[in-house]
Amino acid sequence: MGAYQEQFRQSIDHPELFWAEAARAIDWSRPWDEVLDRSNPPFYRWFKGGELNTCYNAVDRHVENGRGDQVAIIHDSPVTGTIKKITYRELQEQVALFAGALRAQGIQKGDTVIIYMPMIPEAAVAMLACARLGAVHSVVFGGFAAHELAIRIDHARPRAMVIASGAIEGKKTLAYKPMVDSAIDQSEYKPEKCIVFQRDFVTAELNHERDKNWAEIVRDAAPAEPVPVQATDPLYILYTSGTTGMPKGVMRDNGGHAVALKWSMQHIYNVKPGDVYWAASDVGWVVGHSYIVYGPLLHGCTTIIYEGKPIGTPDAGAFWRVINEHKVKALFTAPTAFRAIKKEDPNGEFLKKYDLTGFQTLFLAGERLDPDTYHWAGRLLNIPVIDHWWQTETGWAIVANPMGIEQFPVKPGSPTMPVPGYDVRVVDHGGKELAANQEGNIVIRLPLPPGTLATLWRNEERFVKSYMNNFPGYYETSDGGYIDEDGYVFVMGRMDDVINVAGHRLSTGAMEEIIATHPAVAECAVIGASDEVKGQKPVGLIVFKAGVNRDEEEIKKELVQMVRDQIGPIACYRETAVVKRLPKTRSGKILRGTMRAIAAGKEYRAPSTIDDPAILQEITEDLKKLGYPT
Ligand code: COA
Ligand code: AMP
Repeated sequence: MGAYQEQFRQSIDHPELFWAEAARAIDWSRPWDEVLDRSNPPFYRWFKGGELNTCYNAVDRHVENGRGDQVAIIHDSPVTGTIKKITYRELQEQVALFAGALRAQGIQKGDTVIIYMPMIPEAAVAMLACARLGAVHSVVFGGFAAHELAIRIDHARPRAMVIASGAIEGKKTLAYKPMVDSAIDQSEYKPEKCIVFQRDFVTAELNHERDKNWAEIVRDAAPAEPVPVQATDPLYILYTSGTTGMPKGVMRDNGGHAVALKWSMQHIYNVKPGDVYWAASDVGWVVGHSYIVYGPLLHGCTTIIYEGKPIGTPDAGAFWRVINEHKVKALFTAPTAFRAIKKEDPNGEFLKKYDLTGFQTLFLAGERLDPDTYHWAGRLLNIPVIDHWWQTETGWAIVANPMGIEQFPVKPGSPTMPVPGYDVRVVDHGGKELAANQEGNIVIRLPLPPGTLATLWRNEERFVKSYMNNFPGYYETSDGGYIDEDGYVFVMGRMDDVINVAGHRLSTGAMEEIIATHPAVAECAVIGASDEVKGQKPVGLIVFKAGVNRDEEEIKKELVQMVRDQIGPIACYRETAVVKRLPKTRSGKILRGTMRAIAAGKEYRAPSTIDDPAILQEITEDLKKLGYPT
C-alpha cells in the first residue's frame, strides 16, 4: 500500500487514532477527554474536554520555541507602495496589546466581533486578538455593501466592530466608515463599539459615541495573555452565500480547526515551518481565514498579506515579483487570477524579468480549474500545478493531490484524491451510491474530519436541513461530479443556486430577491452564465408587470445599481434580458437548471412536468441576443 492509501485508510477506519496523532502537533493546556464525541449525530464534536488557545498556538509558542525573530507576516501592498515585515515577536506584542485594548472596551470570551478590513496586517492582528480572548470573530469581505454588512450585524450581534478607515481597490480609494455607519443605521442590533484603524490616505471621522481610535486604545492598553478555551468553543463565524438572501454563518471550533490546518500545511501543501507561504486571496473569504492567517501561522511559516491584484497593480507580472522578492515556496490562488494574467500576458513576457528559483508548487482552488488554464500555468511556470476542491463549510481541502504525502499524476479537470479524513461518495437523488464515472451528487460520509463546520451560527435547524437531511448519514456538498475508475474525483459544479464569480461565492437567489422588489418587475430568475475570465457571471431574466411602458434600458440600469448597492460591486451583476415569460413546471417552480444549461450550450432534457415547452425556444433566443452560449 502506498503512503497515501495507508494514511487515507487509517483516517477512515480509525479516525480517532489518526486525528489524536495529528493533535500532538498542537499545544493543549488541558488534554481532551474524548477525541470524537459521536453521541449526538449529525453534531460531531472533536477533542471534547480539551483546552487550548488558537492564538497562543499561532503566535506565542513560536516565540517561545525560538522563532521570535523570524518574519511572521509580510504586508506587500502595491496599492500603497509599501512593504512591511512583522516578526513573530512583534506580532505577539501587537496581538497581546490589541487583545488588551479589546478587553478594556468590554470584549470578553464568548462575545462576537465583526471585522471589516482590507488586506492589512491589522486584520490578522484583530482576528488573533479575538482568538486570544476567546471572543468569536466574524470577518466580512470589503466588497460587500452596507446592506449585506447590516444583515451580518443583525445575525452575529457583535459587541464591537473593528474596521479600517478605508482601502484602495485597484485605482479607487474607498472610505469604509460611512459605509459601516450606514450598515449600523440599517441594522436593528447596534454594536456598542466601533474601533477604527486609521490609514494615512483616508481619515475616518469618529463622530459617534461608539467610535474608538485603534491607535489610542492600544496606547493605553495592557497586554492580554491567551485565555484557554474549550476545543469545541467557537473560534469564528464566517458568513457564506446560500440559496437565499440570508447567508449561512459557518461556525468553526478551536481545537479541530487548529489540528486540521496544521496537518494540512505539511501533508497537502508540503511546506515546513520557516517557509514562505502565500495565499493570494482576501481575509474576508475562507481561503484567507485558513491560509493567509491561521494555517501558515499555526505551522510557523511566513505568510504574505498582499494588498493588490494579479493584474493592474501595476501589471500582469505582479505575482512573479512577489514570489521573487519574498522567496515564496507555495502560492495558493483562484484560477480566475491566472486567467486574468493569461489574458493580459499570454506569452508570459513579464515572467522573464524574474527568477523564481525556490517556487515549488502552485495551488489553485475556489472554482473549477479548466484544463486550458491548468496547461497554460504548468507550461509557463514548469512546476506542479495542483487543483484542490473545498468549500467555506469544510474550511480546508476535501479533495487534493496531497503533495506532502504522495504526488499523484494529474488528470486535468480533477482535483485528484479524497484527502485523508474525507470519505467522499457520489450518489443519485435517492441516495444510492453510483458506479465509477457516473455523475451525481457528491456527498461525504459522516463524521466529517476536524476543522469542518461544527454548525451554522444560531441556526442548528438550517445546518441539518441544508447539509444533513437529503442524504442521511452524509454531508451534502451541493456540488455535482463523479469518481473515475482510478479514484480521481471530478467536480463539475454546483447543483443549487450558488455561483462562483471570480472565485467569489454568491447567491443568485439573493440577487433575485433584490430584483423582484423593482416596481416594474413581475418575476425574475438569475442564472450563472460562463465568463472567460471570471468563470461565471450572473445574468438576469425578467418579466415586466403588465402595463409597464418605461424605457427597457433605463430599467436594466436601475437593476444593476440596485444589486450593486445592496450586495456590493463583487456581485458583478450587469446583464439582464427582458423575456415574455419564464419556463416553469406545472406546479410553478422556475426551471433555473434548464436555463443554465441553455446559457451554457449544454444538452438538456426539459422535465416532463414543464408547463409549456415552447417557452424554452423563446428563452434560447433571448439568451442568444445576450451572446449565450459564448
Ligand atoms: N472591496 C471593495 N470592492 C471590491 C473588492 C473589495 N475588497 N474586491 C472587488 N471589488 C470590486 C471591484 O473593484 C469591482 O468593482 P467595479 O465593478 O467598480 O469595477 C467589482 O468589485 C468586481 O470585482 P472583481 O470581480 O474582483 O473584478 P476585477 O475586474 O476588479 O478583478 C480579477 C478581476 C480576476 C483580477 C480579480 O477578481 C481577482 O484577482 N481574483 C482573484 C480571485 C480571488 O482572490 N478569489 C478569492 C477566493 S480564493
Ligand atoms: P467557497 O465556499 O467560496 O470556497 O466556494 C465553494 C464552491 O466553489 C464549491 O462548492 C465548488 O462549487 C467551488 N469550488 C471550489 N474549489 C473548486 C475546485 N477545485 N474545483 C471545482 N469547484 C470548486
